[in-house]
Amino acid sequence: MSALLTLMVLLVFVFCENECKGLNEEYTWTRIDYQWPDDPEPSNVLQGREAMDTRKFFRGSSASPSGNTQIDDNNRNERDLEYIFENNIPMGANKWKDKLFVTVPRRRFGVPSTLNYVWTNTTSKHNVPLIPYPSWDYNRLNSTNRDRIVSVYRTAVDTCDRLWFVDAGVVNSLGSRAPIRPPTVFAIDLNTDTVIRRYELKSSDLAPGSIGLSSLTIDVDPENCNDTFAYIVDLGGYGLIVYDFANDSSWRVTHNYFAMEPSAGDIEVAGIKFQWTDGIFSTALGKRDKDGFRTVFFHSMVGRHMYAVSSRILRNRELATRTYHGDDFKVLGDRGPGAHTTMTAMHEPTGVLFMGLINQNGLGCWNTNKEFLSKNFDIVDRDEVKMIYPSDVKVSGDDVIVLTNNMPLFIYSSLDYNNTNFRVWTGSVQKAIEGTTCSLSRLPTTLACNKKGGCSSPHVTHALENIMKLFRL
Ligand SMILES: *[C@@H]1O[C@H](CO)[C@@H](O)[C@H](O)[C@H]1NC(C)=O
Ligand SMILES: *[C@@H]1O[C@H](CO)[C@@H](O)[C@H](O)[C@H]1NC(C)=O
Ligand SMILES: *[C@@H]1O[C@H](CO)[C@@H](O)[C@H](O)[C@H]1NC(C)=O
Ligand SMILES: *[C@@H]1O[C@H](CO)[C@@H](O)[C@H](O)[C@H]1NC(C)=O
Ligand SMILES: *[C@@H]1O[C@H](CO)[C@@H](O)[C@H](O)[C@H]1NC(C)=O
Repeated sequence: MSALLTLMVLLVFVFCENECKGLNEEYTWTRIDYQWPDDPEPSNVLQGREAMDTRKFFRGSSASPSGNTQIDDNNRNERDLEYIFENNIPMGANKWKDKLFVTVPRRRFGVPSTLNYVWTNTTSKHNVPLIPYPSWDYNRLNSTNRDRIVSVYRTAVDTCDRLWFVDAGVVNSLGSRAPIRPPTVFAIDLNTDTVIRRYELKSSDLAPGSIGLSSLTIDVDPENCNDTFAYIVDLGGYGLIVYDFANDSSWRVTHNYFAMEPSAGDIEVAGIKFQWTDGIFSTALGKRDKDGFRTVFFHSMVGRHMYAVSSRILRNRELATRTYHGDDFKVLGDRGPGAHTTMTAMHEPTGVLFMGLINQNGLGCWNTNKEFLSKNFDIVDRDEVKMIYPSDVKVSGDDVIVLTNNMPLFIYSSLDYNNTNFRVWTGSVQKAIEGTTCSLSRLPTTLACNKKGGCSSPHVTHALENIMKLFRL
């Protein structure tokens, strides 16, 4: 009996080592195209609305070495459906039910729609045209119409079936900037596809360098969807903006830990060396503690450390904005060199924090139940060709989603649009951490975890509790 069990354990282990490790390359694009409003199928999208302007602009097939378009961006009229395919670089991916959301910020002109999705219930996964969300109408550029969405980097989906994002309000952030309106927080009810909140950030929420409000995390009480706070990172202005949904108000939190770490500015991706200055890039939320508050993990993209602050501080305007913060903010530790991280995402049931590692061309993990030591970090998956620049990392239910987009090649070199450039990788959390130090035990996690990916292992020390003790919670 025990021999049979051992054999079964071995078989499961060997099988998973070879077959279920890492992530699946699920969606691929050589270039981004859209389901245009004059296509026969989605013609109903704009039915009964104004006549459609479907001017499309196709440039030659190769981008210039600098990645710049040859068009003078300053002297052009606004064309709401202009399409220059080289300028359509997806930055964010997220999932809700049968929809995979893909965002394409208007970092240059020629992006016809910034917030989009594709259906996940179809067999076609290559070069699937993006469908504007919630409609073409919302995405068509019009600087005088404040309901229109201008430019979205990344989204968040919360447990109340809402899609959140910050509209940067800027077209062409890479070249000459054309601010159209203040950065604006949007919440959309995913069940009805209706915008339920639109909040323009105040000038006091922003700093002169606030050009990249590139991600947000939603802290919601599942029992009361009105009790929601959004934590918005300001990677250029080195701050954190808190939006209070119930009171429809916001405040800016400042701390030196939001800045970049100057000694960590050198980055090398795909043989290209460059220096960036991005500060705080994402936040991730730990489990709710007995008192209802959560640990908010954060980090600078250009930096080595991981930091934390309690949501008790951030959610309270007075505590969050006091000029001296005492020991509110903690340094958890050093991730080591080469751990430049874009997005992080927490899988609450296992406490595993996933990290997009740009120097590693891959996805890393740390189990927050373990101590913050480099031996407790691991690589889930990496690929020097296919996983260049993990721009977004999300956990959706018990799945992890990663978008890779070759960004540094787009900026400093050029992309070959005959090759696959953009990928969305998916996988179950359980399989992703299989055999890594992030699984709760070294036993095959198929034995330690249930089918839903919920893993429990009573003998594991709960370092997270120790972290919470640091905050005297
Ligand atoms: C996918 O799901 C959507 C919504 O549930 C539905 O409208 C659509 O027809 C489905 N597509 C396929 C190919 O099943
Ligand atoms: C932009 O929106 C304004 C106000 O809604 C409208 O008057 C104008 O015609 C729109 N422009 C275009 C190009 O659609
Ligand atoms: C949430 O807020 C809306 C609008 O202010 C209100 O109608 C609703 O009753 C609130 N729900 C709860 C559970 O407080
Ligand atoms: C709600 O926001 C207003 C204006 O920003 C502020 O004066 C008020 O104190 C806030 N109330 C709460 C309960 O936070
Ligand atoms: C891409 O494919 C087209 C058509 O097959 C070809 O003409 C072009 O030279 C290719 N471009 C590159 C960079 O290989």
